[in-house]
Amino acid sequence: MAGTTLTVISGASRGLGHALALRSLAAGHRLITLARSPLSLPVHGSSHQHIQTDLATVHGAAQACTALLQMLRQEHAERFVLINNAGTVDPVAQTADLLDAQAIARALQLNLASVMNLTAAFMQGTPATARRQVLNISSGAGRKPVSGWAVYGASKAALDFYTQTLQLENPSLQACSMAPGVIDTDMQSHIRQQSRDDFPGLNRFLELHQYGQLSTAHDTADRILRHLDSPAFGSHTLDDIRHYE
Ligand SMILES: NC(=O)c1ccc[n+]([C@@H]2O[C@H](COP(=O)([O-])OP(=O)(O)OC[C@H]3O[C@@H](n4cnc5c(N)ncnc54)[C@H](OP(=O)(O)O)[C@@H]3O)[C@@H](O)[C@H]2O)c1
Repeated sequence: MAGTTLTVISGASRGLGHALALRSLAAGHRLITLARSPLSLPVHGSSHQHIQTDLATVHGAAQACTALLQMLRQEHAERFVLINNAGTVDPVAQTADLLDAQAIARALQLNLASVMNLTAAFMQGTPATARRQVLNISSGAGRKPVSGWAVYGASKAALDFYTQTLQLENPSLQACSMAPGVIDTDMQSHIRQQSRDDFPGLNRFLELHQYGQLSTAHDTADRILRHLDSPAFGSHTLDDIRHYE
């Protein structure tokens, strides 16, 4: 269908993903969302389908890909957008304490492996002739080490590297791994609850919150969607939304 956009967003039940979903619907996009929680959004003349799944498990990610592929094959649009946004900062711990292999595996599965799977399903389910955009939500923590965030930082650094490979292999695709800044979401309140032993940088995050220096999820979502709409999107595969108005 001419002029239409179909947008897929993971982690759309809360935080940045939820704001991106609401803004995408308001912009008239048809929407497919993913999260563990159920999700019902106000659809006015657009459409919304939700895939309820745990992307931190191999099985959940595989189920999500099967469902996504089926949905995409029934959609016709001029432009297809995938926003890989679901993520976790856990396990937060010093490297000497990282003995919980299951917690590490869940984080890498959610922050990295499920992104690879969903992106493959997106590539297979959408026509190469359409305008296709993949936006991976990264973090400054993947570009500069943060004490206590070894797993998170490693997963986001790997996400950056994966995105560069995706772009290399698919020059007609617009791919970007975007650091979104520090946003007032559940993830930030979870960070503020960590112990100083596990996370020595705690004070900085307490102060950012105390002095009102966090971005809102809706402001960040607006900036991200504006950037996705702009011709500049994808010109830098590794990017930071704070570089844009
Ligand atoms: N907030 C920040 O300051 C900040 C800074 C830099 C980067 N980021 C990145 O921005 C993205 C969004 O963060 P946020 O702050 O909005 O986080 P958030 O408030 O914790 O929300 C995370 C979203 O991911 C979903 N999710 C979590 N675990 C999942 C799982 N196992 N399977 C499927 N979905 C899952 C959650 O939904 P369910 O619980 O319903 O599954 C939720 O919708 C993340 O990739 C994060 O790393 C955030």
